[in-house]
Amino acid sequence: MTISNGEVFILNTKDLSYVFHVDKTGLLLHDFFGSRIEIKDFNIDAIKQKVSCQKGTSTIYKEEINDQLSMDYALLEFSFPHKGDYKNTPILLKSDSAGYTFDFSYKSYEIKKSPLDNQELPAPHDNDEELVIHLEDSVNRVKVELHYVIFEEANVIARNMVIVNEGNAPLHVLKALSMQLDLVNRDFELKNFVGGWASEMNEANQLLVPGVYVHESKTGFSSHKVNPLFLLKNKDASLDYGDVYIFNLIYSGNHFSEVELTPYGYLRVETGINPFCFDFELKENESFKTPYAVFTFSDKGINGARSNMHKFVNEHVIASRWKEALRPVVINNWEATYFKFTESKVINIARKAKEFGAELFVLDDGWFSTRNDDSHGLGDYWINKKKLPGGLKGLAKKVNKMGMKFGLWFEPESVNPQSDLYKAHPEWAIKSENLAPSLARHQLLLNLGNKDVQDYIIENISKILDEANIEYIKWDMNRHMSDLPNTPNVGEFYHRYILGLYRVLRTLTEKYPHVLFEGCASGGNRFDLGILSYCPQIWASDDTDAHERLSIQNGYLYGYPQSTLSNHVSSTHNHQTLREMSIDTRYNVACFGILGYELIFSEMSKFERQQCKKLIEVYKKYRDVFQFGELSKREYSLYSWAR
Ligand code: DGJ
Repeated sequence: MTISNGEVFILNTKDLSYVFHVDKTGLLLHDFFGSRIEIKDFNIDAIKQKVSCQKGTSTIYKEEINDQLSMDYALLEFSFPHKGDYKNTPILLKSDSAGYTFDFSYKSYEIKKSPLDNQELPAPHDNDEELVIHLEDSVNRVKVELHYVIFEEANVIARNMVIVNEGNAPLHVLKALSMQLDLVNRDFELKNFVGGWASEMNEANQLLVPGVYVHESKTGFSSHKVNPLFLLKNKDASLDYGDVYIFNLIYSGNHFSEVELTPYGYLRVETGINPFCFDFELKENESFKTPYAVFTFSDKGINGARSNMHKFVNEHVIASRWKEALRPVVINNWEATYFKFTESKVINIARKAKEFGAELFVLDDGWFSTRNDDSHGLGDYWINKKKLPGGLKGLAKKVNKMGMKFGLWFEPESVNPQSDLYKAHPEWAIKSENLAPSLARHQLLLNLGNKDVQDYIIENISKILDEANIEYIKWDMNRHMSDLPNTPNVGEFYHRYILGLYRVLRTLTEKYPHVLFEGCASGGNRFDLGILSYCPQIWASDDTDAHERLSIQNGYLYGYPQSTLSNHVSSTHNHQTLREMSIDTRYNVACFGILGYELIFSEMSKFERQQCKKLIEVYKKYRDVFQFGELSKREYSLYSWAR
């Protein structure tokens, strides 16, 4: 519920309240965010921020109106640079007439209850009220809208910002974050998640001392180096006790979050698109919309806050048709065969797995063109008839006849220089014309900011989906971006790629609503709420070692529900670490999410086969709990449970 008298704004979810007000100068001052409070007649005297400008060298925002208000010493709902706030701000604009100095004052507000627009960027669905605050710099003719969207039952607020250029000269948006939250420090510790390939989501904990903490990705994608998810918690908060905030971003590109603590105890939290190499030009009447940031709070520890976030992801991010849809047990041939397979080999893998209870067979990399290793073929999606004489149609039929669904791997965003596509369209690959591009896994990325590339991908995937009965797609992407092109609007490049990717995913998932899309990017290299808006589950890591996976999965579970985590039991010795582990242990870890297998059942010992069958039966019996159960009890914490 959102209410306002035009001066005080109160946003209530089931358990939380968020309050701010307009100062007489036109600035918005933040007053409260925490467990729900009841406010009568808009009287916020008890919580209203008492501002004091700390005189001395302070820059006073508008001395003639409020001689106590310096932007540097107030909790602001929205801040901008060059008017006395020397902390980092969520916005940086530049135009020939204004330079870098703009001044935004409150103008009006509206409360809406319509669904959010998700045409360009993914947006959460089934929202409650949306509050829009209109701010304006009437001299420089720039407007800013702050959007607050309430998800009452989930106790989550989503925020974004829209910048509109009403002037006739170009406006350069150099930094446009999705949210700012000013708080008073209460011994806060920052928890974020860092790593790399096959080593995702390692917890990093940092007790805040004055300074700026940045966590960001510059790989072009959300990345396994630093996930956009982060938490702020009292230093003594635990699973069931203490104040915990969780923040995330519905975006798959370069992200940027900063937490700044001043020596006076003011704390600013911001998150959004990374300003790295970002320069978005707005001509007259053009606007820029940021992706949604989402956040929640609980005074009942990590479990309280994450059960809010899990609920939000399951109910408002995952497409409604997949909400609570039980997901199939998978058998995937990747670690069983890599590129070396024939139709009869994969049919045998599928048949045996079916006897053990698998429900969906996924044919991984290597089914097209000359792709017999990772150096060739990406971009050319003609079927390799040597491996699959009956084509995908024939294989899908045989798999369906066994009573299983059929799924297929794709890596449509990439191209090998050794491919027909690259020969025909070298200009579609991301590279600077002056320099030889750097390869990763022998491949380049296609420029998804280009509509022709988007259409090529949509057309090719559609052709294959129309030809065979394919009910699942594993959408892979195996590199970071490099070699930005030397084109005039290169400051828009990273963001336009992601908008193009979203157009492709939106088109295909709408056209084939029955197909279950699983996100994959070398495992967790693009595990984020943007991808989850189209793909309800994501392959969590290329590391299938159950021991290592404990901390990886536990990391994800701070902000992503089990229904989004795709985990496989693989063979022993493990292919990444050579560790040996029992079939029970491998299963016990993989079952916390969407269960799959990547091994040859017939190569297991008799004991392992018996165990395997029993455990898949257990999984199916309690599948709703494994996939959608609430992690609200201490004993469900994977990591502590295993130790
Ligand atoms: C990376 C993925 O994460 C793996 O599961 C597998 O699909 C390979 N790519 C195939 O090239």
